[in-house]
Amino acid sequence: MSALISVSELTRIFDVSKPWLNRVLERLPKRFLTAVSDVSFDVDEKTTYALVGESGSGKSTIGKMIVGLLPPSDGHVTIGEVDLAIERDKQKIDQARREIQMIFQDPYASLNPRWKVRAIINEPVAARGEDTNGLAERLLEQVGLSAEDADKYPHEFSGGQRQRICIARALSSEPKLIVCDEPTSALDVSVQAQVLNLMSDLKDEFGLTYLFISHDLTVVQHMADKIGVLYLGRLVEEAAPGDLFENPRHPYTQMLLAAAPKMDGFGREVEPPKGEIPDPINPPSGCAFHPRCPIAVDRCKAERPKIRQVGGSRVACHLAE
Ligand SMILES: Nc1ncnc2c1ncn2[C@@H]1O[C@H](COP(=O)(O)OP(=O)(O)OP(=O)(O)O)[C@@H](O)[C@H]1O
Ligand code: SF4
Ligand SMILES: [Mg+2]
Repeated sequence: MSALISVSELTRIFDVSKPWLNRVLERLPKRFLTAVSDVSFDVDEKTTYALVGESGSGKSTIGKMIVGLLPPSDGHVTIGEVDLAIERDKQKIDQARREIQMIFQDPYASLNPRWKVRAIINEPVAARGEDTNGLAERLLEQVGLSAEDADKYPHEFSGGQRQRICIARALSSEPKLIVCDEPTSALDVSVQAQVLNLMSDLKDEFGLTYLFISHDLTVVQHMADKIGVLYLGRLVEEAAPGDLFENPRHPYTQMLLAAAPKMDGFGREVEPPKGEIPDPINPPSGCAFHPRCPIAVDRCKAERPKIRQVGGSRVACHLAE
């Protein structure tokens, strides 16, 4: 299977310094926050790759770098054959970018309230000067709404229906990959399942690939072909759902699974998660997980574990075997 998207050594550092004058008067140094550090993974065509991790672990930042909403500080995003960090041919970059769309957690904030649904859905195609005749109507029906809804405004819809409109909009430019950033976590539980089922049907129908960002392990277990677990901006484990849920190899993954509701019954003896997520501006030395890790050894404080192949998984832990 070929990779549709590859990210390698992807890194994003934010300058979170106080304004210049405050720094001078208060004699403060500049401050940098590493949101994503040295992350590498491939997403194969027509599969779903899920990124999971606690709040602040860098999931959205990775998604935004992939769709081009944020430039990486370092590393590469390659779409098909096109390495966006190196490619100079603007036409090739535009073409590669067209193949990726993103949907967000809050389906209301991402819809222009003053536009009719037709204009919202057609916009990515209309912006390129291409024909949009009947496009919005067709897509509305494909996402389980009706063609007549094209003449309404976003406020006339429920949360679940709005997310369907966002999905229709994402589909309008015929993307290959959709980055879905917590697409259902703002919705009622009953509606979540409907939207997830729709996404799953559309994936088959349109031959889509998903990068699915979520903190909900139950959802991820059912949607994903591969799961990447992030901790403080780093990929700590990557495995197929079967392997990850039955045999989590990284102590952080073990904690996540132990903490997840509805996820007991695995017969594993794991401690519930302890400790706070560290400050990403001053991350712990060595393995950033060491202050919370129940099996940490001296080496963990001094040396950062590189991600490596262990059985069918990739794991960043000195002790994984
Ligand atoms: N524009 C920004 N400026 C400064 N820091 C930022 C910016 N965007 C994100 N961060 C920081 O980067 C880190 C990762 O943020 P990100 O939004 O990617 O996390 P996340 O995993 O998506 O979290 P959540 O589950 O809460 O959505 C956090 O510490 C966050 O505060
Ligand atoms: S490298 Fe050490 S601290 Fe980090 S997860 Fe493995 S055992 Fe725990
Ligand atoms: Mg996020």
